[in-house]
Amino acid sequence: MTSTPKIAEKLTDHDGPRHVAIIMDGNGRWAQMRNRPRLFGHQAGARRVREIVEACPDCGVDYLTIFAFSTENWKRTQNEVAGLMSLFRRYIRREMEAFRAENVQVRFIGDRPRLDKKLRDLMDEAEAFTADCTGTNLTIALNYGGRDEVARATQRLARDVADGRLDVEAIDEETLPRYLDTYVLPDPDLVIRTSGEARVSNFLLWQSAYAEYEFIDTLWPDFSEEIFADLVKAYGNRDRRYGGAKG
Ligand code: FPP
Repeated sequence: MTSTPKIAEKLTDHDGPRHVAIIMDGNGRWAQMRNRPRLFGHQAGARRVREIVEACPDCGVDYLTIFAFSTENWKRTQNEVAGLMSLFRRYIRREMEAFRAENVQVRFIGDRPRLDKKLRDLMDEAEAFTADCTGTNLTIALNYGGRDEVARATQRLARDVADGRLDVEAIDEETLPRYLDTYVLPDPDLVIRTSGEARVSNFLLWQSAYAEYEFIDTLWPDFSEEIFADLVKAYGNRDRRYGGAKG
């Protein structure tokens, strides 16, 4: 992956977050402030994604997970939903070559059956196309909801119990996450939400039990690799105790 010239000093030696998850909020307000349609904001937001993915290696971040569309976002107008779906299709088509060239492994989490076939095929293609990349792990949450994920995981788990593949007594904190969409990912260390809203909004509910949170006022289209690097640095100064006492 090419280095990012704007981050002067590498952050890889710090005690920073290995997995950063981002709730990219504020596209609509960013567009409204410019008297433009909401989709204009989503397009500007999509452009920020590449910049942050490219900043990961210099920031020592191995896993980046971004919330692109929630199970609740279907409640938006048909026009906005259709525009977002079309943006995701174009985005995957346009960016996949670049991600592969930059050694980024792309995967998707969320409930796929509700997405249209063209988009699902592109998601499969992107995952296969970047499967042997060994650099940054980019996970895009698309039609994702934490509660929905736990419900779907429970269905699969119950099926394994019913079919005799799993003992009820064997179900514990190690077993359940193996059924989540994120089973191959470490838990996020840092969750960032832009746009001044201090809510979790159904994002990575199980996985974020011990994550640190940063709620910042910047609207997502104004987010930058400098802000990302600052938040990563600030995380290094935090004292995570996972429920234990101060050592
Ligand atoms: C929240 O802003 C943002 C979304 C629901 C969509 C997120 C999508 C992108 C950043 C662009 C595409 C991403 C990829 C991976 C191609 P909002 O619309 O809720 O903003 P508001 O709160 O100001 O209305």
